[in-house]
Amino acid sequence: MQSILVTGGCGFIGANFIHLLFNNPDFKARIINVDKLTYAGNPENLTVVEDAYPDRYVFVRADICDAQAMTEVFSKFNIDAVCNFAAESHVDRSIVEPDAFIKTNIYGTFTLLEAAREFQDQIIRFHHVSTDEVFGSLGADGYFTEETAYQPNSPYSASKAASDHLIRAYFSTYDLPITISNCSNNYGPYQFPEKLIPLMILHALEGKPLPVYGKGNNIRDWLYVCDHCKAVWDIMQHGKPGETYNVGGRCELANLDTVGIICDVLDEIQPAKNNRPHRELIKFVKDRPGHDFRYAIDCAKLENELGWTPQETFDSGIRKTIQWYLDNREWIGRVKSGEYRAWIERHYGDT
Ligand code: NAD
Ligand code: TYD
Repeated sequence: MQSILVTGGCGFIGANFIHLLFNNPDFKARIINVDKLTYAGNPENLTVVEDAYPDRYVFVRADICDAQAMTEVFSKFNIDAVCNFAAESHVDRSIVEPDAFIKTNIYGTFTLLEAAREFQDQIIRFHHVSTDEVFGSLGADGYFTEETAYQPNSPYSASKAASDHLIRAYFSTYDLPITISNCSNNYGPYQFPEKLIPLMILHALEGKPLPVYGKGNNIRDWLYVCDHCKAVWDIMQHGKPGETYNVGGRCELANLDTVGIICDVLDEIQPAKNNRPHRELIKFVKDRPGHDFRYAIDCAKLENELGWTPQETFDSGIRKTIQWYLDNREWIGRVKSGEYRAWIERHYGDT
């Protein structure tokens, strides 16, 4: 792989992925980051890479639904591998406004696949980043495996499920060398503060209520973002075309426990000004409609076939994450004030 198209590279996981690759001394390829810069895309996440690797990092502001723009990217940069992170990714937004999820997650994936098919002779890998949410909801027992039937419950997971099916179909029908990864919930640096973990960290730091949906007993399987990125890179290099791989942290926590741990770590390293325990800020709020009860991943295939294993425990990962948010107050300020949008408009226009 010499010229890798990464879509959605200015988002949370995509940015961590690009950092991971450029921090690897063995990585010699060029990355073309195509991102539309929706509210979730922040080019500031990659200024360090942009400055350090002007010859090997290219940013293109474009929509993956734009067929002409995608063809131009494949042609101009001789793309030989794709890693598709671009998506609308927040379940709560998909419940209120599903339209963009259908466009980007389904039509955008289709558009990318068509562009790859046009340049099929030069494509050695097309990796699609997906979620465990396509499998639906588990009860108290059992795990999602690669054989679990898809049963998505939210517009977000349904749109990701549709995109996974398209990807698989392009392997069966056209022999496009695809791989898919279905990963559990990620946390870590650069996550937009609308998802559970960064939202709770920032609210706790500001002394604001910590809104826990329902009774807080829904369970998520947490994985530190760099462990996910490493899995994606392992699969891109060594995964078998046509195969799908589950990625998870073997780290199940009820939401109330996740929030409690964040509160306890903050009490230890950044006590509240009034010295009250942060747990006092927890507030139970109306549940999310169609709220999946439990996600849990069996990642034995990835461990056994590719030798992947997560490096972080939840304790080490959450401490790194909280410390990152404490050390990056300016990033938080620009994201929360919307200043990052003004910067994007000044540099790229407001389209
Ligand atoms: P994110 O919302 O932080 O970032 C998405 C990025 O995609 C943004 O930079 C955005 O500008 C870009 N984008 C959106 N629409 C686009 C379009 N039409 N064209 C080009 N770029 C577009 O998302 P994330 O959390 O980094 O997730 C990345 C991928 O990983 C998604 O496909 C998501 O489904 C998947 N995933 C996420 C998690 C998680 O916990 N966050 C877990 C498993 C899988
Ligand atoms: P989220 O980070 O939105 O990820 P996903 O819905 O993709 O799993 O939410 C993680 C869990 O936290 C989910 O069960 C919903 C819950 N949650 C809250 O309790 N309060 C919140 O403010 C948010 C954003 C999520």
